[in-house]
Amino acid sequence: MKKYKIAVIGVGYVGLALSLGLASKGYEINCYDNNYEKIRKLLSGESYIYEENFNEALVANKNKLNFSSKLQQSDMYFICVNTPSLKSGKCDISRIFNAVDVIMRIDKKSPIIIKSTCEVGTSRKIQKYVNKNNGKNPVIFSPEFLSQGTAYKNMLTPDRIIFGGNDVQTLNELKIIFSNFTNNVLIMNWESAEIVKYTANALLATKIAAINEIANLCEKTGAAIKDVSFAVGLDDRIGEKFLNAGCGFGGSCFEKDIKALLYLSKKLKSNLKIFNSTLKANSYQRLVVVQKLKANFDNLKGKSIAVLGLAFKENTNDARESVGLYVVNELIKNLAEVRLYDPEAVNSFINEYEIKFKYKLDKKMFFNNIKQTIKNVDVCIILTSWEQIKNLTDKDIDEANPNMLIIDGRNCLKLTKNVIKIGG
Ligand code: UGA
Repeated sequence: MKKYKIAVIGVGYVGLALSLGLASKGYEINCYDNNYEKIRKLLSGESYIYEENFNEALVANKNKLNFSSKLQQSDMYFICVNTPSLKSGKCDISRIFNAVDVIMRIDKKSPIIIKSTCEVGTSRKIQKYVNKNNGKNPVIFSPEFLSQGTAYKNMLTPDRIIFGGNDVQTLNELKIIFSNFTNNVLIMNWESAEIVKYTANALLATKIAAINEIANLCEKTGAAIKDVSFAVGLDDRIGEKFLNAGCGFGGSCFEKDIKALLYLSKKLKSNLKIFNSTLKANSYQRLVVVQKLKANFDNLKGKSIAVLGLAFKENTNDARESVGLYVVNELIKNLAEVRLYDPEAVNSFINEYEIKFKYKLDKKMFFNNIKQTIKNVDVCIILTSWEQIKNLTDKDIDEANPNMLIIDGRNCLKLTKNVIKIGG
């Protein structure tokens, strides 16, 4: 095995999973981030991201990982910086350009691989920029498919790995390195690789939005969505995954990527029609639990309501675009008394809530355990299927608060007592 030194720029979920995965295969990794706080934490041997196996992999691969706020010369450079949405839906690629500048200050010939999700056309733009600045670095685009909560596992066992670009030597080297993870390494042009990423996320989000709409219909017909999802999922052409109906998708990717796709389609006058409906359907779905509440109470004013699960999904401390943000805002607007619980995402939730609704939530609204949170409340709403939430037993509920109404926005509870679900 050729002993490559590989630089990873940006130590978020993507950069860290990539670094840990490559280090586990014996490559020496130079992890760089301009946020020294993150580097400091990682140097102390601890992941600042709550993610399964990150801490263990940090310890196990310690000798292969260098963390620094000064980029070290390497054989290739992976760019894993974030590309947030601008108001127009266009994604902001300025951090990618900044990373390219940092690389070109120390190396004008080694390959640059972009992992950050970016507008179609970005890789070509970056290659031109590199060449205009007298660089010979080949630019490759490699879309990322890892999910938060299972990022390390997804890194080690990917369904496929994709490289877009035209430098044959670099593509061959990447193929060898990544055949450590899968034989499904696909090579294509820049634009195809860029659009694969958006297509995958748009289809996944649309699958969820579609099953949620069917769930809402099930409620009106007497059908049960769990039986319907299971039955249709057995058809290989449909597939069983991403058919869990509930209170809608959250997270920093689906909505942002669909908006970017719609922005591109508008710019190129290609007139995509379906994905706008996906976003609309999801905005509606995020508040179905509030509708269910209102169907049970004339007025929410003064009602004591517990919300369990504030992260956008289980096993992550990330509350970006979580359903909880929208539900809690609606409850507060309706003057309910809100009690909140999440095992990991409280800080992120407070932050995101303040950014979105310009309001700082009082720490007193948050509780350290489920029992305290649901004590004496009128209603308990489930928004994230964390283990400790979905494993609640009848006995737990009877001991803590047997009379409250329970609305299970993730259809994850296994209680025998009466629970309001999504989709019957
Ligand atoms: C998503 C994609 O699944 C990844 O492949 C992609 O790499 C990533 O975005 C990205 O672009 O960075 P992620 O947002 O981490 O990953 O999490 P998902 O597991 O896709 O869940 C997203 C949301 O959909 C969550 O709120 C989850 O609760 C919801 N969901 C998921 C459902 O409501 N029903 C389902 O059946 C599945």
